[in-house]
Amino acid sequence: MIRIFQDYQTLSEMAAQAIVTIGLQCLEDRGKFELVLSGGSTPKQAYSLLGRQWEHKRRLWENTQVYWSDERCVLPDDSRSNFMMARQSFLDTVRIPADNIHRIHGEADDPHVEAKCYEVEFPPRPDLLLLGIGTDGHTASLFPHSTALEEQTRKFLAVQTPAEPPSRITITPKGIACASEIMVLVSGTNKANAVQQVFAETGNILETPARIVHNAIWLMDKEAAQKITKTILIET
Ligand code: 6PG
Repeated sequence: MIRIFQDYQTLSEMAAQAIVTIGLQCLEDRGKFELVLSGGSTPKQAYSLLGRQWEHKRRLWENTQVYWSDERCVLPDDSRSNFMMARQSFLDTVRIPADNIHRIHGEADDPHVEAKCYEVEFPPRPDLLLLGIGTDGHTASLFPHSTALEEQTRKFLAVQTPAEPPSRITITPKGIACASEIMVLVSGTNKANAVQQVFAETGNILETPARIVHNAIWLMDKEAAQKITKTILIET
């Protein structure tokens, strides 16, 4: 499903609303909400909006378990840390209990060992997985031509990437497939080519890893969607 919004602010508001709606439904159905956060900068505004009037959603946040799709191999207080971004954007505001925050320890001496530990901690079927997409079509820290794209058994792997910082711990396609719902947030003209490649009739995940989640819920602004054909929109 693809939903296109006028601008980044509207996209962020709708994303925050959707996250809360899904969370409240999970709380009603199962008494908890297992949320997997994306990194990068796109979700920052949506995360901040989650903190708005948080007192009215106290029961939700008290029963939310937070995980990450990937993490850079840096200290948790490093400005490049995905955990740090989420903590500053909303985790501190909504006062999610510390025991409910399951960060990937990017600072671990051996990222391969941490990836193994994290996939044990990761829930078998998280309720909602948030993802972004890079200008090259990567998602999480699954970059084009990464060997992690062909991983069949592991849910998390330590990888070397062409990005900064290069060392990452990332969810794999098998880990992504565990999620009940997947929501991809995309904003900006610079993502239009990558988005076009995700929904193009021909292509492959080695070239465009985000094709793994082409069937997910895509929330994007008009700039990011500018190269999507009408046919694709009608079909979705
Ligand atoms: C990361 C993310 C990554 C991100 C995209 C988009 O750790 O950086 O997992 O996949 O979602 O690179 O990043 P922006 O939102 O900053 O454009």
